[in-house]
Amino acid sequence: MTKINQYKDILSKNMSYKPKSLISLLQELLTEKRYHHVLRVRDKALELGHAFELSEEELIQVEKVALFHDLAKGMDNDELLIYAKEYKIDLGKVPPPIYHAIVGAWMMKYFFDIEDVSLLDAVYYHTTGSEKLLDNKIGLILFLADYLEPGRAFEKSHIEKHIPKDMLGAVREIVKGKIIFVIKRNRIIDRESIAFYHSLLGK
Ligand SMILES: [Fe+2]
Ligand SMILES: [Fe+2]
Repeated sequence: MTKINQYKDILSKNMSYKPKSLISLLQELLTEKRYHHVLRVRDKALELGHAFELSEEELIQVEKVALFHDLAKGMDNDELLIYAKEYKIDLGKVPPPIYHAIVGAWMMKYFFDIEDVSLLDAVYYHTTGSEKLLDNKIGLILFLADYLEPGRAFEKSHIEKHIPKDMLGAVREIVKGKIIFVIKRNRIIDRESIAFYHSLLGK
């Protein structure tokens, strides 16, 4: 079965979200490496959620977006394009590494009936960040956790020094690093990232 067909086979309308059942879906759809990344992001997000003193209710949401954030990543970018076309998902003009975030947010809404815009935005913008996340603690924590999870082996002390006092300071360091990374590779910088960086400079 192709990957696209596997997604079609496994995801259907009106699915209910439960952490355990979503985890077993992820295990089927994602590579083992990506699956373990998602579990580490979930753990890191909960750790950060505690550090930033989120409520129990917010921690449940943090876990939810962490588990959903790379749901579409079992498909490669070409497959995501085909899938998006078929389901009429608007990918706009974003660079290919962002497709999975848009499709993932769409899947949360379409298959799992999740309507909460702050949760959908958290997943939609988990790669680029966005000014829309500035007041979205759940989204900012996902953004941090996706980058800080222990599987990513690079220098993080300049980011971690802002935790737990300055959430936006930590986010700003990550956005800066991501923009530099993209520039060095002569790739297109997503406009959400640039706008996000500028608004973080003012915070
Ligand atoms: Fe991702
Ligand atoms: Fe991720």
